[in-house]
Amino acid sequence: MAAKIIDGKAIAAELREELTRELTELKAAGARPGIATLMVGDDFGAGMYRGAVEKFCAEMGLGYRNETLPADTSEETVVAAVRSLNDDPAVSGILPLRPFPPQVSDSAVINSIDYGKDVDCFHPFNMGRLTLGEPGFPPATPAACVELLERYLRAEGRDVIDALEGAEVCVVGHSNTVGKPLALLLLNRNATTTVSHVFTSNRGNLAKHTSVADYLVVAAGVPHLIGADLVKPGAVVLDVGINRVVTCPECDAINRSKKNPCRACGADLVEAAAKTVGDVDFAAVSGVAAAVTPVPGGVGAVTNMMLARNTLRAARLQLDKK
Ligand SMILES: NC(=O)c1ccc[n+]([C@@H]2O[C@H](COP(=O)([O-])OP(=O)(O)OC[C@H]3O[C@@H](n4cnc5c(N)ncnc54)[C@H](O)[C@@H]3O)[C@@H](O)[C@H]2O)c1
Repeated sequence: MAAKIIDGKAIAAELREELTRELTELKAAGARPGIATLMVGDDFGAGMYRGAVEKFCAEMGLGYRNETLPADTSEETVVAAVRSLNDDPAVSGILPLRPFPPQVSDSAVINSIDYGKDVDCFHPFNMGRLTLGEPGFPPATPAACVELLERYLRAEGRDVIDALEGAEVCVVGHSNTVGKPLALLLLNRNATTTVSHVFTSNRGNLAKHTSVADYLVVAAGVPHLIGADLVKPGAVVLDVGINRVVTCPECDAINRSKKNPCRACGADLVEAAAKTVGDVDFAAVSGVAAAVTPVPGGVGAVTNMMLARNTLRAARLQLDKK
């Protein structure tokens, strides 16, 4: 039987309604929930993300402040800019957009963010709280995975606590922003959580871990890393990966760029179209899994909503302090 599709767009629409109600209440109580982005230089990816955050804030009715500094700004000046965001009552959440230029260390910037405004959980204080099982601001992408999973389980009539306690969960990827905090969120739900990563694959051990998982969450940034042979029949599979690829029109092989000939058959790819795929081979895995998230339209669709949720939480805390 084909796997159910866990529809991130539909879940994001539900969340948007819930959060819009909460935002209206907060504004009526005198709060001004808003996000500030902090960027240094003109990195293309950071710039794309900055634009997306600005657009999202406008759509949600959240305030937005753009703090973009030139690439040669000193670390001291960047830290001073963070302090000004910390002091701005219209900024409830601060998002540092990396990479920073070499003279600005990530930790100097992150450690200077007011941890009550650290809405994507970069600050060591908030990572510490996450480790202790009391997350103040669960980071957006890992929180989106858990939200999708829990809403899927409820929709299936399952008890979420019961479904996750003691269940075999495998997280593929151990980055500080996705894999590690995601593993902590799942461990905090008493799942038997295994984290596998590139060194697991290098030893040929990836399948050993993924193929026993009742819940498999993949955040590796490797297109179609997970095929049907790596998935336990009946597993729930969440795909975090977002990869731009070019599919060869001659042999269907996935390539990272159209600049080079196809890595499998040598065909010219100049005219081939690019598309976005996940780390999971959706078509193949749909044949064995109970449920799977698509890319696009899965985890990514819910991530911004988790950021908005944390921003409202921060705004509420700031209001309570007044
Ligand atoms: N949906 C979203 O909202 C969202 C948000 C952030 C990141 N992403 C996507 O998630 C993916 C991961 O992001 P990240 O920031 O954690 O990336 P990263 O590059 O920081 O980390 C990648 C992780 O994958 C592991 N890995 C790499 N190759 C592997 C292999 N062959 N086998 C097993 N593990 C392997 C690495 O060990 C590492 O832990 C990327 O595709 C990224 O674009 C999506």
